[in-house]
Amino acid sequence: MTPEEFRKAGHELIDWIADYRQKIPDLPVRAQVRPGDVRRALPADAPAGVEKFADLMADIENIIVPGITQVQHPMHYGWFPSNASLASVLGDIASSGLGTLGISWESCPSLTELEEVVCDWMRQLTGLSDQWRGTIHDTASTACVTAMILARERASELSKNGAGLQGMASPLIVYSTAQAHSSIAKAVQLAGFGNDNLRYIDEDPYTRAMLPDALEAAIKQDLAAGNIPAGIVCSVGATGTTAMDPVAATAAIANEHKVWLHVDAAMAGSAMLLPECRHLWQGVEQADSLAWNPHKWMGTILDTALFYVRDVEHLERVMSTNPAYLRSDADGEVTQYRDWGIPLGRRFRALKLWFHLRLDGIDTIRARLRRDLDNAQWFKAQVETADNWEVLAPVQLQTVCIRHIPLDAQNKPLNGEALDQHTLAWVNRINASGAAFLSPSVLDGRWMARVSIGVEGTTREHVERLWQLLQDSV
Ligand SMILES: Cc1ncc(COP(=O)(O)O)c(C=O)c1O
Repeated sequence: MTPEEFRKAGHELIDWIADYRQKIPDLPVRAQVRPGDVRRALPADAPAGVEKFADLMADIENIIVPGITQVQHPMHYGWFPSNASLASVLGDIASSGLGTLGISWESCPSLTELEEVVCDWMRQLTGLSDQWRGTIHDTASTACVTAMILARERASELSKNGAGLQGMASPLIVYSTAQAHSSIAKAVQLAGFGNDNLRYIDEDPYTRAMLPDALEAAIKQDLAAGNIPAGIVCSVGATGTTAMDPVAATAAIANEHKVWLHVDAAMAGSAMLLPECRHLWQGVEQADSLAWNPHKWMGTILDTALFYVRDVEHLERVMSTNPAYLRSDADGEVTQYRDWGIPLGRRFRALKLWFHLRLDGIDTIRARLRRDLDNAQWFKAQVETADNWEVLAPVQLQTVCIRHIPLDAQNKPLNGEALDQHTLAWVNRINASGAAFLSPSVLDGRWMARVSIGVEGTTREHVERLWQLLQDSV
């Protein structure tokens, strides 16, 4: 494709995207395809020759779009918001269009230095001290694997340089709670600790926050058994109910026992753009690493996960490689992000945040986050005051966990399996209709519905519409 052909097709594509974004509210929220539909509509063999751009766009319209669950739809309340602000989409296009290669500072000084600058802007915007230095990963999952490797290497005194964990006489242990995102257990497994060495610490039965006394007791028990406490993962905004582990109390225990503390604020990090929410991660300054996703509620398009550490030297000791072909005169003077994480080649992701912050502006972003917090409180109040409805967990951010509990034939509240069937039935009815989307999840062994508010286009009117829909569907 020549630049001139690119210009023509590119204009058409941008026009198409702008039209598409405008029509999202008219589309069904959940993808209306059956398993295999998309694959069957596509040729089994790669194209033999050159095709027309118009034919490609027709397939986008007719095959790809029906296979998309519209997470940008204002009636999408599933999982967590995954906003994709158009300003950041432009940054993503710029990132691809520039065609850079991020393997060293020398391969693209702008990529490295813009990443340093935007990570520092984000640090300041979330009220973190200048002890933290950041980088951009693809996801919070990768950031957590990195954090767990850092924990492992600190506790094992850089065992990677020798026999690794296989040379350790005692197992290394990681602590979290059952509320932690599945990526935490995965990171613990992939970093070589093994599932047997992941301890789920007791939680408060209502807030689902980790109980510091239980953590302390578990660490002491492991020490007495000759095990090596290596890492703690604190969830700030856990996925199920946005539970907030107490970071300050956990950090005090972590520091006392010299255990690496990683704070997973994948979702709640966006809230820290609001000074009034920062009490929710009070004590974060004493943690060792911290990750959060602007690609969730804040709305910088995937993949934009911030990862901060305080001890950059340890990070570089663990992650550095120094092949001859990547050496340059600038070594020692510049940041080499390949020494800050797992991949060598990196995308110019900082452009997405740069465009988002500059073109949408932090005030607009903050106003939207506050709108969503208000909408969640409004929705919670409706559910709490309605007959047979229950709010199941504190609403600390924008997610409201609910159940509808009708009376059975004996006039008793439905429970057990029958309640599960009822919950799944009404949630599935709504999702199948395409009018709105919620993700069912399990809390205390029973199904519930999570209403996660925060799509860029979701106003109070949409939340009111959802509440009406819920009441009509049970
Ligand atoms: C609390 C929490 N941590 C981690 C993750 C994983 O995020 P990512 O998809 O960026 O790996 C999620 C995803 O929803 C999450 O909610």
